[in-house]
Amino acid sequence: MAGKNISEYCFGKKVYQFESIDSTNTFARNLSENDAPHGTLVIAETQTAGRGRLGRRWESDPGENLLFTILLRPSVRIEKLILLPFAAAIGIADGIEQTTGVSLETKWPNDLLCGKKKMCGILIEGSMEPDVGAAIALGVGINVNQMNFPSDIEHVATSLYQITGRRWPKGELLNAILPSLEERFLELCYSEAPTILASWKKRTRMMGQQVLVKEQQEAYEATAVDLDVQGALLIKHPDGTVHSVLSGDVSIRHLE
Ligand code: BTN
Repeated sequence: MAGKNISEYCFGKKVYQFESIDSTNTFARNLSENDAPHGTLVIAETQTAGRGRLGRRWESDPGENLLFTILLRPSVRIEKLILLPFAAAIGIADGIEQTTGVSLETKWPNDLLCGKKKMCGILIEGSMEPDVGAAIALGVGINVNQMNFPSDIEHVATSLYQITGRRWPKGELLNAILPSLEERFLELCYSEAPTILASWKKRTRMMGQQVLVKEQQEAYEATAVDLDVQGALLIKHPDGTVHSVLSGDVSIRHLE
């Protein structure tokens, strides 16, 4: 990280903090209709209707985890932001690693895993107007101090507590994550030669592995081979043909 003076960062300069809210993403999306500034942070101890990708719920023990959304008002064309999920994942991973020493692995499209289980999920929502002027809610759920998970997800979910055997101060963690997240966002927007995809690929172990791909109504097995420049997952079928998956979900553990 280049390391700016903390006063130069925008993420978290304005904060809306809640004990309980339906969803920090919903609140941030409503805020975006007002004049809340770029980088506004919405954070909650618990959510009554936390959302995950693909219409799933995001469940979290009250008070134990980081649940937040950053409102983004990028001043670049929306096409520049195609790799936002990847930039967010590595920015968050960098921040967690700096504070805790725990290395996280990236999983397409935007999960962070540790020991094959998910520790962090990212939900990006918002209006993507064709030109400058988008308002985007970048929602992040990080399992920090949760000791146990419900039986239906315990085989796929983990927390920093489960990995390290100790509790972590959430404020300290957030203070490390916000600048590294913002650095990656700025790199995505303004760098001539962003290293986002390369950094993301360095953190993944999914390439070369058999995966179960879920695309709309379809599910099939294939080998993950690479990402294309837009962040689509390139997968190879048993007959040798390669095709790109732009959105959807893949499961690796399922096949192990
Ligand atoms: C996923 O992996 O499916 C994405 C999960 C994103 C969860 C976070 S928690 C804070 C923010 N508010 C929400 O309702 N969802 C995101």
